[in-house]
Amino acid sequence: MKKHLIAFLAMAVAIGLLTMGWAEMKKGMEFARDWTGYKHIGSLVITDRTSTLFGIHHFYMNNKGLEAFKKGGAYPDGTVIVDALYEAIEGLGGILNEGKKLGYPVMKKASKAADAKETGGWIFALFNADGQLLEKDVKKECFECHKAAKDSDCVFSRPLK
Ligand code: HEC
Repeated sequence: MKKHLIAFLAMAVAIGLLTMGWAEMKKGMEFARDWTGYKHIGSLVITDRTSTLFGIHHFYMNNKGLEAFKKGGAYPDGTVIVDALYEAIEGLGGILNEGKKLGYPVMKKASKAADAKETGGWIFALFNADGQLLEKDVKKECFECHKAAKDSDCVFSRPLK
């Protein structure tokens, strides 16, 4: 009887892991579906299509980080910054407009998380346009650049004047 119970529990856990998705488990990070309620803190356009960062970036921060953003200091755990990234399309008169959504680079401050140990206390992640986590070597592809902003806790954006 006990054996059956253990086998049943193991199966339940396995099914649970499958439905949660390994990737999300590994990152300890789910896509912040409430990001549309965050505060817009800045934008950026990269027109070079060969760049991995090509597109129109709109940055949004949850309430947790806004005070640190204003002051320019270290960010508290739980701060989330979402980059809503769109294709940049040139129109009449050189206007650049948003095309299709390309995805969401995201940073989440979680100084005690294993996934943030080598990346300045932030979990870096890249989600596709559907909010699914993509496999990335975020230390190399995100943090190696973001660490240049170490005076502002790896965050480049500054309050607009
Ligand atoms: C070549 C350098 C570089 C790389 C690589 C890079 N970023 Fe950034 N990122 C920037 C810069 C510069 C800004 C801010 C631009 C501004 O001030 O508007 C930024 C902004 C951001 C922001 C908004 C917060 C902030 O720092 O201003 C997030 C979130 C973000 N990047 C996530 C990522 C993720 C996730 C990756 C990897 C998939 C990544 N970035 C790779 C340079 C980089």
